[in-house]
Amino acid sequence: MISKKMESALNAQINKELYSAYLYLAMSADSADKGFPGMSHWFKKQYHEELEHAEKIFDYLIQQNARASLEAIEKPTASFNGPLDSFENALKHEKLVTASIYALVDLAQAEKDHASHSFLQWFVDEQVEEEANALDVVTKLKMIGDGNSGVVYLDGKLGKRGDD
Ligand SMILES: [Fe+2]
Ligand SMILES: [Fe+2]
Repeated sequence: MISKKMESALNAQINKELYSAYLYLAMSADSADKGFPGMSHWFKKQYHEELEHAEKIFDYLIQQNARASLEAIEKPTASFNGPLDSFENALKHEKLVTASIYALVDLAQAEKDHASHSFLQWFVDEQVEEEANALDVVTKLKMIGDGNSGVVYLDGKLGKRGDD
């Protein structure tokens, strides 16, 4: 049993996760278009992860006999100014999502909703990973700078995401 307020906050989070998925799919398309198949693959993997996050919350709502409701998903930015811009935007976006998860944890605490609080801890941990993954690529891209061969090498590495 969760409150109506928690129900609607979790539904808003489903929308954010689906928007995240949509944003990463847009980044995947843009990376492919700009000649970075590895980054396109990396963003597509990320897209799938975000869909799973949305589903996790969807399933939790149903388990709690609450109503999962789906709102319109905002149109994502379609074009970025190269790899560094894409990954910097990914990192910026993940920080927003982290803040949103923290607000949910705060609400669970305020409502003494121990079940939701426990459920949300997975997302707290996941966000640490999400930010670290995006930051890792941003850092590498900054080290590479304008070196084309470095970007091509990194693109090859990112294309192997999910293989290890
Ligand atoms: Fe997510
Ligand atoms: Fe994410």
